[in-house]
Amino acid sequence: MRKQIAAANWKMNLSLAEAEQLANELLKTDHQLSADQLAIFAVPFPYLLPVKTIFAGKTGVYVAAQNCSAKKNGAYTGEVSAAMLKSIGIEYVLVGHSERREYNHESNAELAEKLNIALENNIKPIFCCGEPLAIRDAATQNDYVSTQLKESLFHLSAAQMNNFIIAYEPIWAIGTGRTASSEQAQEMHANIRRVLEEQYGAAVADSVSILYGGSVKAANAVEIFGQADVDGGLVGGASLVATEFAAIINSLKQ
Ligand code: PGA
Repeated sequence: MRKQIAAANWKMNLSLAEAEQLANELLKTDHQLSADQLAIFAVPFPYLLPVKTIFAGKTGVYVAAQNCSAKKNGAYTGEVSAAMLKSIGIEYVLVGHSERREYNHESNAELAEKLNIALENNIKPIFCCGEPLAIRDAATQNDYVSTQLKESLFHLSAAQMNNFIIAYEPIWAIGTGRTASSEQAQEMHANIRRVLEEQYGAAVADSVSILYGGSVKAANAVEIFGQADVDGGLVGGASLVATEFAAIINSLKQ
């Protein structure tokens, strides 16, 4: 069975004290993770180690970086390398979140380099893709997302796809309160799996967890996660409230 994953994206929020409080509150909530389920927390760089320490020993709970550099090391002031993340025991990284594509001009080609360097360092990427509203309105979202996948992923081997998570996040649904319907999510997730199957075969396509992101909350998680090709969610706003995120974890398919 594919892993079912509740991933939190704290973005650029919270002080250290607030981040630690949220992590501690989460531990106290009534949430269950079965053997095929994971909770992954993408937190700001300065909080990676403190939050990892709080979650130490919790089975199925991981801490992720929200980004890494496309470069190996050297004179890149302000950047954080995949090797640095590995050296502090981080196992997951978000790659290509739409906010980074927009504000930091990350191209599909640069994201391909980030994926390479993350995988070289044995860090599992959570690769984010998704279309803006104009593309959805023109009904060309399947081609748009397929191109994102082809240009950033298709140089990877089938073996490298074993360590891969994809998050489909329609940009018009992020932070807007406007979720994709469960049918729209399922349709795109099936499209992504078809694209993966054409390149890597059915076994690989069936093994990659594909998360939905965009205004997921406790109230809609069961419906969205219940779709056949939706393997959990990448959650922004609602992940900042412990009880909400606990309910989202408990909404994962068994
Ligand atoms: P949201 O953000 O849940 O606040 O819409 C999702 C994301 O950007 O990962």
